[in-house]
Amino acid sequence: MYRIRTFNKISPVGLNRLDPALYAVSDSETDEDAILVRSAKLLDYDFPKNLLAISRAGAGVNNIPLDRCSEAGIVVFNTPGANANAVKELVLCAMLMGSRDVDGGIQWVRQQVASGVDVTTVVEKGKAAFIGPELYKKTLGVIGLGAIGSLVANIALSLGMDVYGYDPFLSVDAALRLDRHIHVVKDINELYKRADYITIHIHYTKDTERMIDAKAIGAMKRGVRFINLARGEIVDDDAMLAALDTGWVAAYVTDFPNNRLVGAPHVLAMPHLGASTPESEQNCAVMAVDQLRDYLENGN
Ligand code: MLT
Repeated sequence: MYRIRTFNKISPVGLNRLDPALYAVSDSETDEDAILVRSAKLLDYDFPKNLLAISRAGAGVNNIPLDRCSEAGIVVFNTPGANANAVKELVLCAMLMGSRDVDGGIQWVRQQVASGVDVTTVVEKGKAAFIGPELYKKTLGVIGLGAIGSLVANIALSLGMDVYGYDPFLSVDAALRLDRHIHVVKDINELYKRADYITIHIHYTKDTERMIDAKAIGAMKRGVRFINLARGEIVDDDAMLAALDTGWVAAYVTDFPNNRLVGAPHVLAMPHLGASTPESEQNCAVMAVDQLRDYLENGN
């Protein structure tokens, strides 16, 4: 019998694939043999000696201490691609929100109603106040062309956008998934200098920490709109806030809020919603559970 500890809620669609005759699943401390986790931070977690594997229902593994795991022989799995569609759809939403000031308009309507105004009488005023550009015929830069970035790049073409992609580790599979109309550039500055919108889809590692710094932002077009559904740490907040202040960056839509960013103008921050769809939660849970089962039962 394997003891599995869940950190975070893992979709029952995945958990139900664990045969109760072989697995005891618990969300409390259990001297576990394996862990299923979503975004809970395990960086300081004191692993039990018998821990064999950790399976993350998600793509990023920056909440898991990989060095300690590798020293202790703990195998780590993730679920690349399982939530890619959910993230792609939210990126589209983020680009539109960052462009059309949907959030500002909705908040304004609420304020009118809260202050006792008959909102139907002030719609014209709101209509004039909240205006922003269309995506059509604008240029999108996609940094990172893996499972998510390639989907975003392809769908942006169907909106009539010109798409530039950059990925120094572009795999043959990923390259084959890309529409031939996407311009893949070797120099990221080429993307920076052309893009009206930039979306980033790379892992957070020591190498990518604060990769979007003052120098990178300075190489972008004035008025660029920047979308970050990857990880907050990839962007240097000081540089981003300074660029928002001068209007160099027109909007920053991030899935990684912090108190400094949220108060700033032209920042739209969501509570890490990229993968929050029932479909994606189920896909990730199924993949995370299947990998764990395969490893524990077959050693694969
Ligand atoms: C991911 O790394 O894929 C996301 O962080 C998943 C999630 O939101 O749990």
